[in-house]
Amino acid sequence: SDIEKGTYPYYMLKEIDEQPTVMRRIIQEYTDAIGDTMIDEKIVKKIIASDRIYVVACGTSYNAGWVGKALLEKMTNIPVEVHLSSEFGYNMPLLSEKPFFIFLSQSGETADSRQVLVQLNELGLPSLTLTNVAGSTLSREADYTLLLHAGPEIAVASTKAYTAQIAVLAVLAKAVGDSKKNQSSLKFDLAHELSVIAAVMETIIDEKMSISQLVEEYLSTTRNAFYIGRGVDYFVSMEASLKLKEISYIQAEGFAAGELKHGTIALIEEGTPVLGVITDRKTAAHTRGNLKEVESRGAHNFVISLGSLSKETDQLIIPDVHPLLTPLVSIIPTQLIAYFATLQRGYDVDKPRNLAKSVTVE
Ligand code: AGP
Repeated sequence: SDIEKGTYPYYMLKEIDEQPTVMRRIIQEYTDAIGDTMIDEKIVKKIIASDRIYVVACGTSYNAGWVGKALLEKMTNIPVEVHLSSEFGYNMPLLSEKPFFIFLSQSGETADSRQVLVQLNELGLPSLTLTNVAGSTLSREADYTLLLHAGPEIAVASTKAYTAQIAVLAVLAKAVGDSKKNQSSLKFDLAHELSVIAAVMETIIDEKMSISQLVEEYLSTTRNAFYIGRGVDYFVSMEASLKLKEISYIQAEGFAAGELKHGTIALIEEGTPVLGVITDRKTAAHTRGNLKEVESRGAHNFVISLGSLSKETDQLIIPDVHPLLTPLVSIIPTQLIAYFATLQRGYDVDKPRNLAKSVTVE
């Protein structure tokens, strides 16, 4: 059945491998034969009627929300804020006049998110839940639901739900953008671009043994590590470091590359691994500059870059994809890095200490 490991040693590896299939399933579920999006008109109308979108989530879903913000703002021209559920609930920000809320939750059962939704429902505000679990609490209690269609995710470390959330948010952004006749949305052939993504994901996944070797060289004994990037590459860095720390127990942090020199660079010592993510053309040269700065202070640099922006010395080069969707592919090597770092250190990949798959307490 869908939730058996089969020949896989761990669910996490199986779930990483399933991501190309999930992308194709999302194309099937949410776009028609001519590539138009298929999203409930009621959801699209509600979002168009709003003056601001608030994304509320925890952990990996929160990190996906930042990528979603970039997509939604670009394609809909509606401002988007991204909030941690555990903060939003007790320190509610000043809301706009016509807010619309998007909850991101793989499980649909996260208590921190639910307590926010309960408050919003009391205020009568409109909400949508993106979840992998039909009939889950956050799905039942929100006005609308969009399913991720990722199939059951068993490993505590979320992988395919992250990429599914970004893909479904892209579909939603295009549905709203098209309906508003926004040019950058109308000319974005999302169904085609997602099928390219699926193929590129496969290419990266096929290279997993070389990623395992790189992990041995860069991360096998280190106590800490930093991911850095700018723009969407910063958002990917946040998720990449969460993945690495939660299962390998390496103290990993994701930083905005330009912010390092304002404090964090003090932590760089001889041999500290710094993993740069470079897929954004505008900022590639700046991130390269930041990598030079840490290298001269002893950092052991590891660069994940996009083909057209790559240098020969880069460790991992990803084939080019549509600029708005690069997180869907740049995250894949970082998932494999976390997986192999954990294996090499001899820990249980699927069941890290102190963590539960869904966090049902506040
Ligand atoms: C992801 O690897 C984590 N285990 C965790 O951060 C998770 O994403 C978070 O608890 C939110 O869960 P949800 O998406 O089911 O709401």
